[in-house]
Amino acid sequence: MDKIIIEGGRRLKGEVKISGAKNAALPILVSSMLTEGQCVYSNVPDLKDVNSIKLLLSTLGTSVNTDGNTVKINAGGLNNHKAPYDLVRKMRASILVLGPLLARLKKARVSLPGGCAIGARPINLHLKGLTDLGASIELKHGYIEARADKLKGAEIYLDFPTVTGTENLMMAAALAEGTSYIKNAACEPEIKAMADVMNKMGADIKGAGTSCIKINGVSSMNPSSVSIIPDRIEAGTFMIAAALTGGDFKIVDCEPDHLGSVIDKLRRVGSKIEISKKCIHITGPDEIISVDIKTRTYPGFPTDMQAQFMVLMSIANGVSTISETIFENRFIHISEIKRMGANITVSGNSAIVKGVPALSGAPVMASDLRASASLVLAGLVANGKTEVNRIYHLDRGYEALEKKFKLLGAKIKRVS
Ligand code: EPZ
Repeated sequence: MDKIIIEGGRRLKGEVKISGAKNAALPILVSSMLTEGQCVYSNVPDLKDVNSIKLLLSTLGTSVNTDGNTVKINAGGLNNHKAPYDLVRKMRASILVLGPLLARLKKARVSLPGGCAIGARPINLHLKGLTDLGASIELKHGYIEARADKLKGAEIYLDFPTVTGTENLMMAAALAEGTSYIKNAACEPEIKAMADVMNKMGADIKGAGTSCIKINGVSSMNPSSVSIIPDRIEAGTFMIAAALTGGDFKIVDCEPDHLGSVIDKLRRVGSKIEISKKCIHITGPDEIISVDIKTRTYPGFPTDMQAQFMVLMSIANGVSTISETIFENRFIHISEIKRMGANITVSGNSAIVKGVPALSGAPVMASDLRASASLVLAGLVANGKTEVNRIYHLDRGYEALEKKFKLLGAKIKRVS
């Protein structure tokens, strides 16, 4: 098993290039199932989760070809409606094939994804929305058995603005008969990016990016060539690294408009942030100011940035309250950061972080994707050596993270 070893204390300098967004690439690659013919995707990040979805799409009968960060998918051969447990359990976003399978093959047998480290991750809202669109759904032996002779437009109310739920339902509704509305839809940038791609393929979707999305069903869609938007969480992770290390560097090929809440909070922490087209120039503060955050759905502070921000607060000059309102178990990183000397107490869904003068390097264990990123960040600023184990979690969502940090001057290496 690979691990990452870091000698802390370097101020990061230079420039880092942001990769394509994992959470846009996954649903957009799946949307290739909605048409026959070859779709071409550029700026696709080379990640384990992307490889998992490509494997699943191949299993369903599509042809997938990868050349670096360009992926070509032809779903003309889509002929298998079964998404097996051993693939779905590895990557929960596999549930995204459910909508397209119903739209194209009128049936689906998809394993229930099950939970993960950060929570139970139910998909009841996905299933409720598909039922609203006319699908019949049974749960048998750990699988979702779904059928729909013809999906029909409907008004769908989501109890929670679920991101992949919105994406699943947008795909199912795109080829349904008639008009659908998704109310209380997720507003994340990845939803808008996906709708833009689907509209380029001939879908008729309005309002993506707002909480009410209108979809006029079309009879068929066409293949297209698109580029994946930049990863806002990767960019935010590097911003935290600048604030932590007192660094001064440029983050390029990013989308500052997707990072409003993170930019706001990091300015309050004391960072200097200049924004230009596709670029964020950030200079870390001499003194890190304690700031409270509550994770919220977009455009609030992203839950995927909570663990990283907590590391920053662990060496701030006061007390910060960090509340996690999206997932019920997303504090697993706390025990590992405390082993590095952080002073954090948990009360319900809030963590009280009392800043300490410095963290100390230690061997630590990654538990989920963003927690592993937070441990790498902690290592960058801790005194001495930090060894982050189980970094397969990291490889799910960050492309060559240690190489990018090395280019910024960090003393970091991956060892097998
Ligand atoms: C997406 O997950 C992201 N993953 C997550 O990123 C991200 O943390 C999350 O959205 C929130 O922004 C992808 O896009 C692939 P949700 P998703 O459905 O869609 C409840 C990362 O690190 N809920 O918006 O699974 C659920 O329990 C990952 O990149 C239901 O109750 O998240 C949770 O409390 C982690 N019923 C809340 O909604 C449902 O049917 C948010 O879940 C669906 C969700």
